[in-house]
Amino acid sequence: MLEQIKQIESEALAAIAAAADKESLTGVKIAYLGKKGGLTALSRRMGQVDAAERPAVGTAVNAAKVALEQAINQRMAAFHAAETEAALASETIDISLPGRPWPAGSRHILTQVLEQIEDVFIGMGYTVEEGPQVEYDYYNFEALNLPADHPARDMQDSFYFSDKMLLRTHTSPVQVRTMERMAGRLPVKIIAPGVVYRRDDDATHSPMFHQVEGLVIDKNVTFADLSGTLLAFARRMFGEERQIRLRPSYFPFTEPSAEVDISCFACGGRGCRLCKGSGWIEILGSGQVHPRVLQLSGYDPEQCSGFAFGMGVERIAMLKYGINDMRLLFDNDLRFLHSF
Ligand code: PHE
Repeated sequence: MLEQIKQIESEALAAIAAAADKESLTGVKIAYLGKKGGLTALSRRMGQVDAAERPAVGTAVNAAKVALEQAINQRMAAFHAAETEAALASETIDISLPGRPWPAGSRHILTQVLEQIEDVFIGMGYTVEEGPQVEYDYYNFEALNLPADHPARDMQDSFYFSDKMLLRTHTSPVQVRTMERMAGRLPVKIIAPGVVYRRDDDATHSPMFHQVEGLVIDKNVTFADLSGTLLAFARRMFGEERQIRLRPSYFPFTEPSAEVDISCFACGGRGCRLCKGSGWIEILGSGQVHPRVLQLSGYDPEQCSGFAFGMGVERIAMLKYGINDMRLLFDNDLRFLHSF
């Protein structure tokens, strides 16, 4: 029996060495180690072996199995390595092929303009505040000197959830929230960018749009400070040659109030299609903070004063980049978005 085992083992080792490829090697494995393989058949005949010889025969069969398995695995690994090497050797790289384009995204033009506006004010020492889009009537109107039934509420057609809650119609409620948070401390010097909502929808109005609010409160803040700040902003944003013009206006939360125009950057003020021949383009609303607004949020109008302004980001983007329909900003047509 021991002789037979030796015989089968050396036969099998020869067959393994002779196998030309992975397939024939697998064949050899089945022929000797498979369920009906030579070595397996031999171990089935254990019963016929003398009890005294059994341990020695068992050890020999197992040793033969291990030796064959090792030899097969080694050979298989060699075939694998050869395959990989052949594949690498036959691979050629054509370095003259153009590279695959890597699709690069970019920030939305509105985000870019918003960041430009923020940068100008951050450069002048402002910090950035935020407030909720679903707002209390109190912050959106009441605390801004717009009590219930005030006719000026009609200036901003609103989306209401209930008597007390609405989608904010402007970023001005952040003025109130900031004054509450600052609790009478000076100075207050913030901008508040964000989304606002009004019941408007045409080529120059969207029911959802963006504003940037500004609020400064300190001792002796004057209308001259407002005008100088907005002139600096206009020049950074639209070119150093810009002039600004303040026109009397009305907002319940500022007194006096002013609409701010910049000299037309397309024609330099001579009059063209962009400025509709006037030489001036309106860009924002502003004014001295109304004493009542200061009072309502815990600031003493005898001790301090301030100015505020609010601008539409879409409008500024459209002016600066010559976009003639606001809806383009929200259609997400890649041909449009890629042009910035
Ligand atoms: N909140 C005003 C609007 O949306 C703009 C504004 C802000 C005016 C601050 C004056 C001061 O129309």
